[in-house]
Amino acid sequence: MKLQVSENSWTSADGDWLIVGLPESFELSGPVGALDNALGGQIARLRESQDFTGKAAETLALQGLAGIRAKRVLLLGLGPADKLAGAGLYKALMAAARAVSVKKTERIAVAISPDIFDKTVPAGVPSTSCFQFAATAMTVGCVGQDLYRAEKKRVPFENVDLLVEPGQSASELTPAVQTGIILGEAINLARELVNQPAKVVYPASFAERAQTLARQHSLHCEVLDKPALEAEKMGSLLAVSSGSDQPPRLVFLEYNAAPAGTPVVALVGKGVTFDSGGLSIKPTDGMLTMKCDMAGAATVLATMIAVARLKLPVHVMGFMGLVENMTGGSAMKLGDVLTARSGVTIEVQNTDAEGRLVLADVLDYAVSKGADYLIDLATLTGACVVALGEDVVGAMSNNQDWCDKVLAAATAAGEDMWQLPMFGLYDELIKSDVADIRNVGGRWGGAITAAKFLERFVKEKPWVHLDIAGPAFASSDKPHREGGATGCMVRTLVEIVSRH
Ligand code: BES
Ligand code: MN
Ligand code: ZN
Repeated sequence: MKLQVSENSWTSADGDWLIVGLPESFELSGPVGALDNALGGQIARLRESQDFTGKAAETLALQGLAGIRAKRVLLLGLGPADKLAGAGLYKALMAAARAVSVKKTERIAVAISPDIFDKTVPAGVPSTSCFQFAATAMTVGCVGQDLYRAEKKRVPFENVDLLVEPGQSASELTPAVQTGIILGEAINLARELVNQPAKVVYPASFAERAQTLARQHSLHCEVLDKPALEAEKMGSLLAVSSGSDQPPRLVFLEYNAAPAGTPVVALVGKGVTFDSGGLSIKPTDGMLTMKCDMAGAATVLATMIAVARLKLPVHVMGFMGLVENMTGGSAMKLGDVLTARSGVTIEVQNTDAEGRLVLADVLDYAVSKGADYLIDLATLTGACVVALGEDVVGAMSNNQDWCDKVLAAATAAGEDMWQLPMFGLYDELIKSDVADIRNVGGRWGGAITAAKFLERFVKEKPWVHLDIAGPAFASSDKPHREGGATGCMVRTLVEIVSRH
């Protein structure tokens, strides 16, 4: 796909579609007025009859048009201009991209009402961010999860023009648009890895893919295979993988373009390429989507690629713990006591609480590799989905300053995240009579007791745990996003890394 900033008026832009983003109670002045004139007052009439009001993510298709160069117009509501935040703008643009990608197109033009530039909250979404969001949404919104369907539900765009009025300087916006494309492509990479079935994406194939991508983007890459993991004494990660015929892997990526002494941010991803639950086996309904259980690892890989392509002046490490959780003859059993790499002993009381067992060793490894600040991403608990719903990421942390930075980055990126408490009283719930800790915390507060378990392995480094069990994989289509893998948190992670 080719996507660029084009200096052109809305009426003379060519394309199968002209997407026109308008805030609520928009004025018919400037380019909006010119478009309305060329269309013989049609936009004014639609506003008058309340058929198009500009409310958030509202879309209205105008077809069979004369008077302008584009074949069709998609009016896109952006909501109240003074309340428009990143999340709303991105969702609206995604809805538009999805609406017009149902059929093959040759050219799409996107026009955003200049009324909203610099008027948005919080702190304003400047016009550069609007263009960046548009570039990402156009890259992501036209790609579906229909990897194996003969008859595709979505057709990727070939050409996209993001319009600026003649005279407005396109060159200022080009870097933001390039960033937007790189983010979109990273999100699509994460989505593709997650949408692929477990037969295709398993620990060894994921690691190979990571190696190939690392080579292409000049990232340092190390892959630890089973003997290497044994040598590292990763008894907790290895126990999860012991029930599977697929051998485990740990992928370590490093990108450093920072002055010496810059703090190292480590991103750690849960990469359970399939979670059957192990001997505490899941019923069919719960197992159905468990190819998605490596979304944390896919997000880390995609973020590392994006950071490298953006050439950010930072020092970042990415760690992906890759295993399959199965029920084979050597599977871990209830009552087993594992010794993690750190020496902490863990009583296994539920083999389906495997993500924390994997992350325990990978977090510990990340700290020994020199991580100063940590963020882990994991489809860790159904309890987090119960608490926050399917669309909101749960954040849990041992350090409020670091957590505040991650929350602020999520807001800027337009992704929804909410912090859950980490009171000391939750520590009681993961005590064991036979080992240092157990891998489940009882019925209540399950997202937090899982985080409390992870906290034991970060050696008091500033750390934020992001539970993406809800948002990583969508059960159905919505106007603003495709069902299946979402690639959530890639934009937030790049934002936090670039701010740090
Ligand atoms: N991978 C699951 C969590 C999950 C649930 C991800 C729904 C995506 C959607 C995780 O390994 C798991 O099975 N967690 C258990 C923990 C329990 C046994 C303490 C859960 O949430 O039920
Ligand atoms: Mn599980
Ligand atoms: Zn899992």
